[in-house]
Amino acid sequence: MSSVTRGPRKLYVKSYGCQMNVYDSQRMADVLAREGYVETSTPDDADVLVLNTCHIREKAAEKVYSELGRLRVLKQDAARDGRRLTVAVAGCVAQAEGEEIIRRAPVVDLVVGPQSYHRLPDLVARAAETGRVVDTEFPAEDKFDHLAAPSAAATRSRGAAAFVTVQEGCDKFCSFCVVPYTRGAEFSRPVAKILAEVEGLVAAGVKEIRLIGQNVNAWHGDGPDGRAWSLARLLHRLAEVPGVARLRYTTSHPRDMDDALIAAHRDLPALMPQLHLPVQSGSDRVLDAMNRRHDRAEYLRVIERLKTARPDIALSSDFIVGFPGETEAEFRDTLALVDEVGFASAYSFKYSPRPGTPAADSDDQVSEAEKADRLARLQARIDHHAAAFNAATVGRTAAVLFENPGRHDGQMTGKSPWMQAVQVMAPPSVKGEIHTVRITGTGTNSLYGALVSPLRHDVHGGRDAPDAAMRVASGGH
Ligand code: SAH
Ligand code: SF4
Ligand code: F3S
Repeated sequence: MSSVTRGPRKLYVKSYGCQMNVYDSQRMADVLAREGYVETSTPDDADVLVLNTCHIREKAAEKVYSELGRLRVLKQDAARDGRRLTVAVAGCVAQAEGEEIIRRAPVVDLVVGPQSYHRLPDLVARAAETGRVVDTEFPAEDKFDHLAAPSAAATRSRGAAAFVTVQEGCDKFCSFCVVPYTRGAEFSRPVAKILAEVEGLVAAGVKEIRLIGQNVNAWHGDGPDGRAWSLARLLHRLAEVPGVARLRYTTSHPRDMDDALIAAHRDLPALMPQLHLPVQSGSDRVLDAMNRRHDRAEYLRVIERLKTARPDIALSSDFIVGFPGETEAEFRDTLALVDEVGFASAYSFKYSPRPGTPAADSDDQVSEAEKADRLARLQARIDHHAAAFNAATVGRTAAVLFENPGRHDGQMTGKSPWMQAVQVMAPPSVKGEIHTVRITGTGTNSLYGALVSPLRHDVHGGRDAPDAAMRVASGGH
């Protein structure tokens, strides 16, 4: 066997799409590590190569096929060296397209859907033997129970902020979205399992826990008391775990922002003043056609309450422009909403018709030129507010969790409580630590800051930012 002569077998995983995929890619690496696979950072010497794919927009899905085209050459090169490269496609494209992928790209040996990752060792072994293995079932067993916990060394190599999937799937069925089909029905992991995972992560040095789920605030897992807990209650419990300095959660749906969750932003110092709350559109008619289950006024009310609970909260959102039938006036309602909320940052996308979703069948599609024009105008408004938000932090102090070396020699980069990247001249030893930083300026994609000397550990941070400045920055008044 090649592993005898070549040492441990190597695994290369590439993630596309959302944070759920990043988390899943890590679990795939962990489950294969048990079989002796070691992760490699380049595809060139891999024995198993996994593309963990995203199906959310056409462009995202098409990227996979261009990547697979390039892999044909890599696989031939490996064969010439007497090595078998096993190519696997995982994630949402795998779930949506199944064996069609192998038909279109015969370089693929294995197609594995998100609910079958715990079966990877067996699937990979079979695929390496025979090729053409497809598993896109939704098995009854809880895959999370069978996915490996990372080793402390693996956790440390992934940094001081870690994702923990607490919820998967979606029952909302927005009319444009593939997620309910690729990820299935909503599922919440129980409290005990989440707690055990979080305790393992902090024991290995993680400081910040990011709870993730396609609809994370719809989470309602079983508590140790036998009752269903709310996300607010879970956050309160996690804040008590020694070593958890920071908590975040994403992505939330406006409909599921309940009173207790909003109050947690006021009451929990570990809960960072930041929330991603996609709204998609500012027009009631479009929101209804999207089947979003909230209108503009309801969304704005949630925002108002969040700002009351935590005046310095940094809000971000997702927008879709050119949804079928969207008029210029309706699009302007979206621009007005952006001005009203003054988001700290936001993602915006051209509507992409997805096979099998109701909106794709509408014969009222907006032209590509119109979509491009609206996207540019929306992004300009978003950029304007983001710059204002960032500028308002200049001159303030903030607690920064340092993660990586910065862009230039001697710099380290980390995250502010408001999720901004901050570049700071600092020794490499600050990695994984939280220090107080004075924000000195703004760059294109990050802020600049200076360590407040002497190095002072800051447990949570964020509270010392003057609320008035942040309110102006986030567009209130
Ligand atoms: N669960 C989250 C987000 C899921 S997907 C939510 O409920 O909002 C991430 C983002 O992709 C969405 O918020 C939406 O803005 C965008 N998106 C989803 N489907 C899309 C489509 N068909 N075309 C363009 N953008 C889309
Ligand atoms: Fe998609 Fe809507 Fe579910 Fe979000 S809430 S994952 S946009 S269907
Ligand atoms: Fe993409 Fe699937 Fe995430 S479609 S956004 S990878 S849930």
